Amino acid sequence: MTRRIAVLISGRGSNLQAILDATVSRRLDATIAVVISNKPDAAGLSRAREAGIDAVHLAAGGYPDRDTYDRAIVDVLRARDIGLVCLAGYMRLVGPVLLDAFPNRILNIHPSLLPSFPGLHAQRQALEHGVRVSGATVHLVNGNLDAGPIVLQAAVPVLDDDTVERLSERILAEEHRIYPEAIRILLDGHWTVSGRRVVMQPRSGA
Ligand code: GRF
Repeated sequence: MTRRIAVLISGRGSNLQAILDATVSRRLDATIAVVISNKPDAAGLSRAREAGIDAVHLAAGGYPDRDTYDRAIVDVLRARDIGLVCLAGYMRLVGPVLLDAFPNRILNIHPSLLPSFPGLHAQRQALEHGVRVSGATVHLVNGNLDAGPIVLQAAVPVLDDDTVERLSERILAEEHRIYPEAIRILLDGHWTVSGRRVVMQPRSGA
């Protein structure tokens, strides 16, 4: 797998920033070769441009259907020799065209301990359910929403006086920590997928 990664966003881009910071500090040996947004005004696009990264806006409205849109994304990714695709606040479902072009090469981050609270407003769902622990999950993307094999998770407490904002902030700090780490694990390549599990392989000599 090449160490050239793509980050797909729709908004703020704080996870993009965390990944970028990790590459700059060499904690993560990878290059963000392109950032793609489906939203023209995503703050993450500006972050990318400020860092001198190729930043591409692809408006879904300009394509007749999901497959055609995803094909356009695949073209951008292939033209830049991308090895791993990282969804970071990308608010679109990934269809079969993109999935098949990058099998087990698409990661997503979700602000709950999956399989609890998939979908939108995960932090609000956790608070309303009354769980005492929530967290963040980095997983491989498959055809089902927030359901692919899990690479890393981190837990945070849910406090009695939490608001959605406070809980989100606590989870986000963990997202920023584990996303670069999960990317490092995938790029290092000592793993396989067995059923639902991402299994780490012992390194030779270990
Ligand atoms: C994060 O909470 C992520 O888990 C979810 O969307 C949010 C994106 O935030 N998928 P940002 O754009 O990375 O700041």
